Amino acid sequence: MSVVPYKEKNTGKKQQVAEMFNNISKKYDFLNHFLSLGIDILWRKKAIKYLKKDQPKYILDIATGTGDFAIEALALKPEKVVGVDISEGMLTVGKEKMKRRGLDNIIDLQLGDSEKLLFEDNTFDAIIVSFGVRNFEDLEKGLKDMNRVLKKGGKAVILEFSKPTKFPFKQLYNFYFKAILPKIGRLISKDSSAYTYLPESVDAFPDGDKFLRVLENAGFKDNKCKPLTFGISSIYIGQK
Ligand SMILES: C[S@@+](CC[C@H](N)C(=O)[O-])C[C@H]1O[C@@H](n2cnc3c(N)ncnc32)[C@H](O)[C@@H]1O
Repeated sequence: MSVVPYKEKNTGKKQQVAEMFNNISKKYDFLNHFLSLGIDILWRKKAIKYLKKDQPKYILDIATGTGDFAIEALALKPEKVVGVDISEGMLTVGKEKMKRRGLDNIIDLQLGDSEKLLFEDNTFDAIIVSFGVRNFEDLEKGLKDMNRVLKKGGKAVILEFSKPTKFPFKQLYNFYFKAILPKIGRLISKDSSAYTYLPESVDAFPDGDKFLRVLENAGFKDNKCKPLTFGISSIYIGQK
């Protein structure tokens, strides 16, 4: 049974995830930076550096949300970044942000499902995903379709929460993530479940070596995992 935001509803994970991100879209950026004390920004910057040598020109940002990872990817000086997401609410906030910053000519945000990407095989020089894969309804299907649209030799850089394993970080993380964060998240976002779903979905996610195996099954090779900040997050790099 996969972890879903609204356990009382009969709808599938994808529909619930889209509904949840629609509900919290206006507060998402603020809560992200507030609850992580801004560390999420540093994590995205660090992840993008793994593509520096490749100099990708055409980049796909999967589960782009409000587009923050797409914006970080501009450090690579690409010609175009396409961001796809299943939440119209998140995309609306993202599109307004791109317009405000004069980035709408280089970052193109579109409605799209990672498990059914509407792009030809071997289209992109690189694919990036931050805090997205944990929310996929079918993780392997999503990763396989990412592999399909990536050019041969291109890299996928995936940033995702993981679970610290060492004392006292594991205990501190559990206390913050399970006791503090859901309360603040609920208060500010007004969504009863979004910030309870967050730690639950991280718990259920196959992190570290387990995720490297999932990447391999999806067709990626030379897969690597780089843990960040005591293992609270990890960067995964895979190549086609
Ligand atoms: C936690 S947000 C991350 C947004 C952004 N990448 C960031 O770093 O802030 C997760 C996003 O994944 C999107 N998402 C979940 N499943 C998806 C799917 N199958 N295809 C595309 N987007 C998806 C959600 O709508 C949501 O906007």
